[in-house]
Amino acid sequence: MVEAGRRDTGPLGTVLVIIPTYNEAENIESIISRVRASVPEAHVLVADDNSPDGTGKIADELAGADDHVHVLHRKGKEGLGAAYLAGFRWGIDRGYAVLVEMDADGSHRPEELPRLLDALPGADLVLGSRWVPGGSVVNWPKSREFLSRGGSLYSRLMLGVPIRDVTGGFRAFRRETLEGLGMDEVASQGYCFQVDLAWRTVKAGFRVVEVPITFVERERGDSKMSRAIVAEALWRVTAWGVGSRVKALAGRR
Ligand code: GDD
Ligand code: MN
Repeated sequence: MVEAGRRDTGPLGTVLVIIPTYNEAENIESIISRVRASVPEAHVLVADDNSPDGTGKIADELAGADDHVHVLHRKGKEGLGAAYLAGFRWGIDRGYAVLVEMDADGSHRPEELPRLLDALPGADLVLGSRWVPGGSVVNWPKSREFLSRGGSLYSRLMLGVPIRDVTGGFRAFRRETLEGLGMDEVASQGYCFQVDLAWRTVKAGFRVVEVPITFVERERGDSKMSRAIVAEALWRVTAWGVGSRVKALAGRR
């Protein structure tokens, strides 16, 4: 189902880089041009939640000038999870073989994307990881680092996922992985969407590989991290962990 004229990236097939945006007008042009330069054969899909700052309009202009750039306009702010799910479906419907998650603000450096894609022949999901040897964060306040490391540790203990950076959002999925992890049942809205998908991937028996990345804190615009996002992650991860333990105990009897 691959459209005529689309270039192939070899054995992996076509790559779609999905960039969710909410008020990223100052970042969108730069991130798209960096992705286009770094992996010229890849296509880009901006999944914009009707950003009040006009990000969607800028994305439309960029898409008009480049047939590798596409825009998915959503009606309002529904969270990172919903934007990615819509983006994945868009890409799967159009026959892309690899679906990449990437933030708009430059924290995930497009220049590191080829290294993630290079690991995909040996994996079903490649995670860009800050918390493996060689990975790092630049310009992050200690409080954010604590939250991220703590969130990963808590998820690892609660869910038993053998992943160091389970909340990270720089990832490359094979389409078969997304098709096999039960996307239709995902209810997570905020950043715990990332934990949700990683856990589902592990539970479904897929191979996950972590590749070290350097995460660089944004220079322009604001983070959308909020108390509500932390609260959602905490209650969902706790509920998943308790639920799976109860199930395991029930199965033992
Ligand atoms: N469409 C849409 N809708 N996009 C959103 C929404 C939303 O409701 N909320 C956030 N985004 C987009 C932002 O515009 C940005 O491109 C990306 O999602 C990440 O948002 P940031 O606000 O920059 O996240 P962060 O830097 O605080 O958090 C980073 O760390 C988290 C914890 O490790 C990201 O890498 C997250 O992916 C990660 O879970
Ligand atoms: Mn960010």
